[in-house]
Amino acid sequence: MMITHNDAQLYYEVHGAGNPILAVHGFPLSGKLWAEVASDLSRHHRLIVPDLRGFGHSRATPEASMQTYVEDLVAVLADAGVDEPVTLLGLSMGGYVLFEFWRRYPEKVGALILANTRAPADTPTAAEGRLTTATKVLAEGSQVVADSMIGKLFAPTAEEALKAEWYSIMATSSPVGVAAALRAMASRPDSTATLPTITVPTLIIVGREDPITPLSDSETMHRAIEGSMLAIIEDAAHMTPLESPGAFGMAVQQFLRQ
Ligand code: MLT
Repeated sequence: MMITHNDAQLYYEVHGAGNPILAVHGFPLSGKLWAEVASDLSRHHRLIVPDLRGFGHSRATPEASMQTYVEDLVAVLADAGVDEPVTLLGLSMGGYVLFEFWRRYPEKVGALILANTRAPADTPTAAEGRLTTATKVLAEGSQVVADSMIGKLFAPTAEEALKAEWYSIMATSSPVGVAAALRAMASRPDSTATLPTITVPTLIIVGREDPITPLSDSETMHRAIEGSMLAIIEDAAHMTPLESPGAFGMAVQQFLRQ
């Protein structure tokens, strides 16, 4: 499906039927991140998979923020006819978006699944680095980011073909969309104080070997969100739904059954 919302053209897919799950990908990825878990998650649920603006089939705009991503997701849910609380699933930058979603629209959230993500904002040095990278991406292309990220996304056991596929997806993503997302992440708020406000059932998932959002970040979230569950995926790094789709799907199904 393709919808126009404000200045954006947003693509999303729907799989299956049942209570809705909205799955939000990370940076600089696309809804394809969920391809390996889609059949599992859509067996008993309606899985809604958008491409955030500037990624996949969704058109890039020069500016973005966590707020604009959230408003886009709300528009996707409205277009998909979802008016009941939804389970939100987000990986990494997708998780940063979910914290903003929770702050703005807690009444629309039935449950949260925070995969390979973290609550704190960037340090000033990290934010500065992102702004420099954004300028470089606009001048030289998105392979700048693909080159710097590909070595950190997957555990050493991941297949070369999988890495090559995702290198290509990252390297060919829109420089305008990638730069906008880098600036959006650099200016995102610290969500640490948001964690104790989360009152919906929450599952935290992380790959044991994730160097980007390490296990310690997930343990911090687990301690701060009362009643949350923590699932650690062995032999996986940052791309858990692609690296270990079976374990990822099982963790989500178990959580949703409870
Ligand atoms: C992501 O996977 O979304 C990014 O690595 C998150 C980040 O760079 O902070």
